[in-house]
Amino acid sequence: MTSTSFTHDLVTSQAVPQYTDIQSIVADDFEIMDKQVFGSLNSKVQLVMSVSQHVINAGGKRMRPLITLLCARMLQDEPSHNAMHLAAITEMLHTATLVHDDVIDESGQRRGKPTANATWDNATAVLVGDYLIARAFNLLVSFQSLSLLKLFSDGTCDIAEGEVLQLQHQHNPSATEEDYLRIIDGKTSRLFMMATQGAAILQGQEQYLQALADFGQHFGNAFQIIDDVLDYSGDSELMGKNLGDDLAEGKPTLPTIKALELLKQSDKEGYEQLRLAVQTGKTPNAEHLIELVRHSGSLEYCKARALEETKRAQEALGTLPDNRYRQGLYQLTQMASARLL
Ligand code: IPE
Ligand code: IPE
Ligand code: MG
Ligand code: MG
Repeated sequence: MTSTSFTHDLVTSQAVPQYTDIQSIVADDFEIMDKQVFGSLNSKVQLVMSVSQHVINAGGKRMRPLITLLCARMLQDEPSHNAMHLAAITEMLHTATLVHDDVIDESGQRRGKPTANATWDNATAVLVGDYLIARAFNLLVSFQSLSLLKLFSDGTCDIAEGEVLQLQHQHNPSATEEDYLRIIDGKTSRLFMMATQGAAILQGQEQYLQALADFGQHFGNAFQIIDDVLDYSGDSELMGKNLGDDLAEGKPTLPTIKALELLKQSDKEGYEQLRLAVQTGKTPNAEHLIELVRHSGSLEYCKARALEETKRAQEALGTLPDNRYRQGLYQLTQMASARLL
């Protein structure tokens, strides 16, 4: 690792490695897993293959499978083809949720490429997303583990419920932080929990299920809060997706929820403007509204909340076996927090 590969970390004020440094802890496993993500697509229907390959080839960090690989090695340090296989399945499910999410959010760009819905159409994207979920379960059967099937089927229901809850709150300017947490718990954190707990089931180390659930849930919460902050303050090119979408869709994410709360006290006119934008999804003055959110103090609050969630994730790691894989998971939480800078 070179010193140039380090960024500054908000949580501990120490230098933290970059993503590739963390990947390299499980480099061999990661490479096999990545090949499996591509290799697991085997539809007889050419359109299913084209759309799936389009999204999977576009890249993506493969962070959920990386979590599974690190967790599996942390619990038992030997190459586990089952863990690589499960990690690939987790990525397939993640990809499916993104394909569906982009239809719902009417997003045009993902992983630096046009989305499936923009390249083909909504119906195609929805059906291929369905195929990816079905294929993930199809592959899961080979483990012959009812515990794994239960974890993944319960989790997939929760993810779908999270997205539906989010849809229900679209254009609702009265949504609360509690509503938001319920949404992200389902749509994002649940898959992180599946990625961590799945490894414990595979390795027969069920005594760690609770700690792994806590880690996955809090890390997932932190990750989504940060993603939502970046929708107001990030770099579109760097993230490979359009930013500012959340407000344009009238989606009450934490930055908006908190901004409304703060503006209500400090800037009645700004409050009414933002409220109306969420309610109608009409943002002819988008730049002004984004500035309103940025200056409200809301993003600072969200960053503090994300750091709180990160700390809780790191605390959960404290009860797990102490080795370089656990260190990798810790570094992953540091890296995610550093995206705030
Ligand atoms: C995007 O997840 C969806 C969120 C939970 C914010 P990632 O940021 O991990 O997306 P990819 O897989 O790297 O494209
Ligand atoms: C995350 O929500 C999507 C899922 C967890 C399915 P977002 O809508 O915030 O994700 P991006 O910003 O489109 O990646
Ligand atoms: Mg989206
Ligand atoms: Mg987002």
